[in-house]
Amino acid sequence: MTYADVYRRSIEDPNGFWMEQAQGIDWVEAPSTALFSDNAPLYEWFKDAQVNTCWNAVDRHVEAGRGEQLAIIHDSPITHSTKGITYRELRDRVASLAGALRAKGVEKGDRVIIYMPMIPEALEAMLACARLGAVHSVVFGGFAAHELAVRIDDCKPKAIIAASCGLEPGRVVHYKPLLDGAIDAASHKPDFTVIFQREQEVAKLTEGRDVAWHTFQYGVEPAECVPVSGDHPAYILYTSGTTGQPKGVVRPTAGHLVALNWSMKGLYNVEAGDVFWAASDVGWVVGHSYICYGPLIAGCTTIVFEGKPVGTPDAGTFWRVIQNHKVKSFFTAPTALRAIKREDPQGEFLKEYNLKNLQTLYLAGERADPDTVKWAQEKLGVPVIDHWWQTETGWAIAGNPMGIEPMPVKIGSPTVAMPGYDVQVLDEGGHPLPRGELGAIAIKLPLPPGTLPTLWNAEARFRKSYLDHFPGYYETGDAGYVDADGYVYIMARTDDVINVAGHRLSTGAMEEVLASHPDVGECAVIGVSDPLKGQLPMSFLCLNKGSGRTNDDVIRECVALVRDQIGPVAAFKLACVVDRLPKTRSGKILRATMVKIADGEDYKMPATIDDPAILDEITAALTSVGYPRP
Ligand code: COA
Ligand code: AMP
Repeated sequence: MTYADVYRRSIEDPNGFWMEQAQGIDWVEAPSTALFSDNAPLYEWFKDAQVNTCWNAVDRHVEAGRGEQLAIIHDSPITHSTKGITYRELRDRVASLAGALRAKGVEKGDRVIIYMPMIPEALEAMLACARLGAVHSVVFGGFAAHELAVRIDDCKPKAIIAASCGLEPGRVVHYKPLLDGAIDAASHKPDFTVIFQREQEVAKLTEGRDVAWHTFQYGVEPAECVPVSGDHPAYILYTSGTTGQPKGVVRPTAGHLVALNWSMKGLYNVEAGDVFWAASDVGWVVGHSYICYGPLIAGCTTIVFEGKPVGTPDAGTFWRVIQNHKVKSFFTAPTALRAIKREDPQGEFLKEYNLKNLQTLYLAGERADPDTVKWAQEKLGVPVIDHWWQTETGWAIAGNPMGIEPMPVKIGSPTVAMPGYDVQVLDEGGHPLPRGELGAIAIKLPLPPGTLPTLWNAEARFRKSYLDHFPGYYETGDAGYVDADGYVYIMARTDDVINVAGHRLSTGAMEEVLASHPDVGECAVIGVSDPLKGQLPMSFLCLNKGSGRTNDDVIRECVALVRDQIGPVAAFKLACVVDRLPKTRSGKILRATMVKIADGEDYKMPATIDDPAILDEITAALTSVGYPRP
């Protein structure tokens, strides 16, 4: 079958196509049909099935004779350790943890927050929830206590599972005080927390609330897999929107299983027994889909890597992991390759390792810039495949179907639409644009299985954010075009979301934090280009008169405030003080023009600008902090 055949079938006969793909999943009760349109434009998939995610990701591989195969390899250059966990061990560990959670009252539908670093126990916690039908919500370790508190109040977890600490190069991240601070700040209180004590830092437990990972499992009955209906939420994952309130993306159980299973072969070209590595973090969607669920559902060995592309200990660490663990398909963010390229432009480290098992490198999370793609192609000698997706979709919207029919790579394009995604480029009025023309990228409804059916407890926000602007379509928030061969090009966001080192951040959220500083009267945050991280947040602060504080003091406090309220991951360090912000006559801040000035690009004077002279002030302020960068 060619890609064109597969794609056409998925669009013309979605029911038939996805029912066929559903055969790759073990059902407790098989679905009678794939697509449920009765509540359109809210669509659901495999709703009348009964199934369990943990069974499909773990137990069934043991039953099929893969019990002794490694399910997880933990490779931690930070702690200088490597260990493997077989599918049989994983099943037993997850069943025991699930049994202990059940003994403390966690049931199907209860929410459980997971706040853990890159250790196998993070995956075990996710799978234990899945085993019980509990809905996990993993929170990235680089977020501050306030962000954790916001998520606690939104999803109201019965329990929180955390580690005592995370390890960043040269720094221990004290999770427990962050967790305690978040629980104190939140209105909702979990019944209990489970703390996995790492040897690098043993946290003090709060009596009556905190239990230790190992002790609370003593003597409990291991739990069996609990069947849930196809539309049951497998998890909630919060992502940045335009405001400080994150969006709780809901992942439906059955569609998630079917779509990820399809993608492992169709897109990543791996099968049971192969080693697959996504160098991301369990706190992001890439970690959910391709560190935890995807590779395990397909019976692969997945790698949990606790380290960085450079500095742990050097720019050869990725190549060492690929060699030592015989990685076949490798997935990372372009920013990671840029970091390696900057330290080792000639690829000297590559000479020390044998990468014969590596067949393909996949990139996603941000635009793959041509220089980085070419460097990787040349140095690694394997196809470098860009693919485009979002937390909301959970798997690729556009990619190169390496397991069906590899398509010629066009650098700058994440290639073609994946099955079930009817990708269209629309003008402002919602009319499809001809091939080659730039517009808003939207996906004709229904979205394929595995994508979000709604936002957690926020259906109105779901409709407003994604469905209302272009009726009949899902609005991606990305702008771009599709060329004459059907190749998709992603050029920019259409909203105030920025992408820093492959991390999606909200400038609106940062503005809310900055505005809370007593000396800040008004502010704006934009994303400026950065050669390493893609974008960095840059803020413009208008200070209240007469506070008597120096600009430097206020800036220092603002940087600390964002780190404290959002977290180090925001990488917020750039600020300049201005008297006023450029606005339209109706008061809208001209962020796009400010971005162009900061990036040193030509710009047209906006016709609606209130006072053109302000742009000179903005240019001067940027110059004073070294922008635009040469
Ligand atoms: N827990 C706590 N803090 C974290 C963290 C975590 N899990 N992850 C990152 N941070 C902190 C970092 O320590 C850093 O803090 P600092 O300001 O004290 O230095 C800050 O958040 C920014 O982190 P990051 O954006 O990851 O940058 P970095 O300086 O640590 O590393 C590179 C940057 C160059 C290594 C970057 O290219 C990279 O590879 N980042 C990860 C890319 C990635 O996997 N993205 C996800 C795509 S799916
Ligand atoms: P996230 O939800 O964190 O995965 O971020 C999704 C956003 O990252 C997308 O909407 C895009 O703006 C951007 N993105 C992800 N992958 C790519 C890619 N391959 N090319 C361009 N942008 C991408």
